[in-house]
Amino acid sequence: MPDFLAEAQALFEYTQSLRRDFHMHPEIGFKEVRTAEIVARELTSLGLEVHTGIAKTGVVALLEGVKPGPLIALRFDMDALPVLEETGAEYASQNTGVMHACGHDGHTAIGLTVAKILHSHRSELAGSLRLIFQPAEEGQGGAEGMIAEGALDNPKPDKIIGLHLWNEKPLGWIGISNGPAMAGAEIFKIKVRGKGGHGAAPHLANDPLLAAAQIITTLQSVVARNIAPLQAAVVSVCTIHGGEAFNVIPQEVHLAGTIRTFEPSVREKVLERFEIIVYGLAETMGCRAEVELRRLTPAVINDAAIAARAQKVASQTLPESTLETSNYITMGSEDFAFMMEKVPGCFIFLGSANKEKGLDASHHHPRFDFDEQALSRGAALMASVAAEFL
Ligand code: NI
Repeated sequence: MPDFLAEAQALFEYTQSLRRDFHMHPEIGFKEVRTAEIVARELTSLGLEVHTGIAKTGVVALLEGVKPGPLIALRFDMDALPVLEETGAEYASQNTGVMHACGHDGHTAIGLTVAKILHSHRSELAGSLRLIFQPAEEGQGGAEGMIAEGALDNPKPDKIIGLHLWNEKPLGWIGISNGPAMAGAEIFKIKVRGKGGHGAAPHLANDPLLAAAQIITTLQSVVARNIAPLQAAVVSVCTIHGGEAFNVIPQEVHLAGTIRTFEPSVREKVLERFEIIVYGLAETMGCRAEVELRRLTPAVINDAAIAARAQKVASQTLPESTLETSNYITMGSEDFAFMMEKVPGCFIFLGSANKEKGLDASHHHPRFDFDEQALSRGAALMASVAAEFL
């Protein structure tokens, strides 16, 4: 296999300038107009067949090898977050209140670098590469939109690979799980309707606050008492709103939160208990509950065989790395999971933090930034994993 790390490092200035440009001009999900234009421009300049406007701002390009073979898809997300940047970097956001606080600027720059690298190797490639630049990963349905608009059809790719720069781990670390990698997520909203009244006469009211408090407490029994100790699940109530005055029992209380699981059977069990508890307790307390439950993403579960080959390639392309393979799992979620429901694949985490340089804030934090050396590593890794299958 070619020395993809050396090739990616030779392109470092190209990757870094793209990344910094995207970082200075971040765009929220489905509004990545400028970003998509640059992506399309770069891919077109390589002579690739480029399709734009997929799920509003998505871009798909085909890179054909000279020899026949499988179709491998690589996916990169492009969207930023509604976060006010506090990094103070020279390339900080010029779009106040919007920030690349998750590293998707890096992913997009990596994707374009991979296209450049593999384009120069197309005479050696057997098969084709579909490069998918996806909008709106941050909970807005970008992956589902691209699937609905055919990004995984005609023909369907044989395999799909995704990558995330990962600031929870230092530069030099790589995480490729053999199975579950990221949790499936649901969002819930609960409205507990009671009967308001005077705070001094609670017997004349049906207190929705007390009912909500019981619901919050009892929901914590689901993971503690209904899920096997060695299986993973999270039920978190993250907001509670109700009441205005110290002496008025309100009419209703609003709760919202999230559920995270990996196994479908665990998910079913949690959702079943969730509904029984919410509806049942509300009724017990003389109130009525309304539940709005929405599936945000399925779980990201790597295909074991694809993950094994990606692990092998990772240790060859990026030697002297810490490769975590057994079961690197996070309870975070990723809409790449929708693509992996259609096409077997693998999601790779690439350590990007550098504590000495102060680049170790968590994802979505106003001071999030990563070590740009991770850009070359990411491009080399994605290029070599794709080449492994072509
Ligand atoms: Ni992200």
